[in-house]
Amino acid sequence: MKSQIGLIGLAVMGRNFALNFSNKNIPISVYNRTSQITDDFIDTYSRSNLKGFISLQDFVNSLEKPRKILLIVKAGPAVDNVIQELIPLLDPNDTIIDCGNSYFKDTQARQKYLQEKEIQYIGMGISGGEEGALNGPSLMPGGEKEVVEKLLPLLEKVAAPSPTPCVAYMGNNGAGHYVKMIHNGIEYADMQLIAEIYHLGRKVFKMDNLTLSQLFEQFQKTELNSYLVEITAKILRTPDSTPDTFLVDKILDVAEAKGTGKWTVQEAVELDEMVPSIMAAISARSKSKEKRKRQELERKYKRDNKEQLLPSSNEINLLLQEAMLAAKILSYAQGIDLLQKASEVYQFDLNLSKIAKVWRGGCIIRSSLLNTIADHFEKSEQSLLFSPFFQERLQQCMGSLRKLIGIAQGNTIPVGSLSGALFYFDLNSTDNLPMNLIQAQRDYFGAHEFARTDRPGRFHYQWSENGNN
Ligand code: 6PG
Repeated sequence: MKSQIGLIGLAVMGRNFALNFSNKNIPISVYNRTSQITDDFIDTYSRSNLKGFISLQDFVNSLEKPRKILLIVKAGPAVDNVIQELIPLLDPNDTIIDCGNSYFKDTQARQKYLQEKEIQYIGMGISGGEEGALNGPSLMPGGEKEVVEKLLPLLEKVAAPSPTPCVAYMGNNGAGHYVKMIHNGIEYADMQLIAEIYHLGRKVFKMDNLTLSQLFEQFQKTELNSYLVEITAKILRTPDSTPDTFLVDKILDVAEAKGTGKWTVQEAVELDEMVPSIMAAISARSKSKEKRKRQELERKYKRDNKEQLLPSSNEINLLLQEAMLAAKILSYAQGIDLLQKASEVYQFDLNLSKIAKVWRGGCIIRSSLLNTIADHFEKSEQSLLFSPFFQERLQQCMGSLRKLIGIAQGNTIPVGSLSGALFYFDLNSTDNLPMNLIQAQRDYFGAHEFARTDRPGRFHYQWSENGNN
């Protein structure tokens, strides 16, 4: 019997995704460049619906036609290498599905290249880590609509099942990987916001790990309910090997990044959008790597932490909760604004309500807020800031966000993602900005002209008597 689908790349995500198909009784063939890995995998999981192959040709021959092949290999040249090896073995209308975190422009180019060879190419974002790959990830496929639609019944079986199967057609031309890139940008901001709340809790409000863990557990009972808050509560109470110590305190404060967050920021700049909370999360990770420099400069600069009137202990939890809710809404709004802009610019024709629904389960940013976000975009195409529900929440919580940022600044705690959220909010909701002065400066030194408030047209003024301008 031929397999319904094939999978190339048996690192941990690939292995778990293959097992997910097999668990759902979908016969699957697997292949890995290093054959020992395939052998070990098949030895460990001997099942009739899971077949391993040492030769790529045999792997391809084992698949039902038109073939469907999932690639779960490292984004970048490895994807192109596998594609090159597959091309001579495939027939017209076979489909390759790239499940890595590929750059959307690479996906566009690969799709075009393969179309010329009559091979279908789908770029599919997958989120949920190892556990999600095994038990149900969130899936974001993009490419030719008819091709994705034919795949959907299969993908629905392996996607996170609740609240509804977390998979939907995203759009053509790299849209699947674009949506995954934005997911990751929001993931960066979400993680950084939690880290900033933790930093403030620890340093300013003198909360210990268990108290902080309880705080995040309490957040779980509110609109902040999310996977990242859930795992944070668990991380904070995880002990280390010696009594009364916690693992989190033994972990070096240097964070890595693979690049999808950086692409999100680059895209925001490219498309005239702003994602300051995501940008701050990237900067925090980058600067974290300069541990020595940070240590040296902390010694050099005496901190003059002013005595501040801190909130009473029973006010602190609410302050942190409200500030985090406001900042979280605002960082989702930043990512979603960028999706909206990209949808126009790249003609992705994204359905934001569907995207929010696909993110409700299985993925790293799954959270209860996504239900409300999906509801908003079911009725409206306007930015989240126009949602009556979020307007009410922001009205209620912005005071806490402002207050917490003030406390952080007074205590020299860097809170870029919280502050970025506030900057995004204030910039978007202020009628009169000082851009009149910027326009005057540009006209002064470069004769760039300006528009006036009192009459139409472009104007230049002779600002200086002796200058050319
Ligand atoms: C997911 C994640 C995943 C990502 C890791 C690491 O949705 O499952 O986004 O795709 O690769 O979270 O990303 P960084 O190394 O960039 O933090």
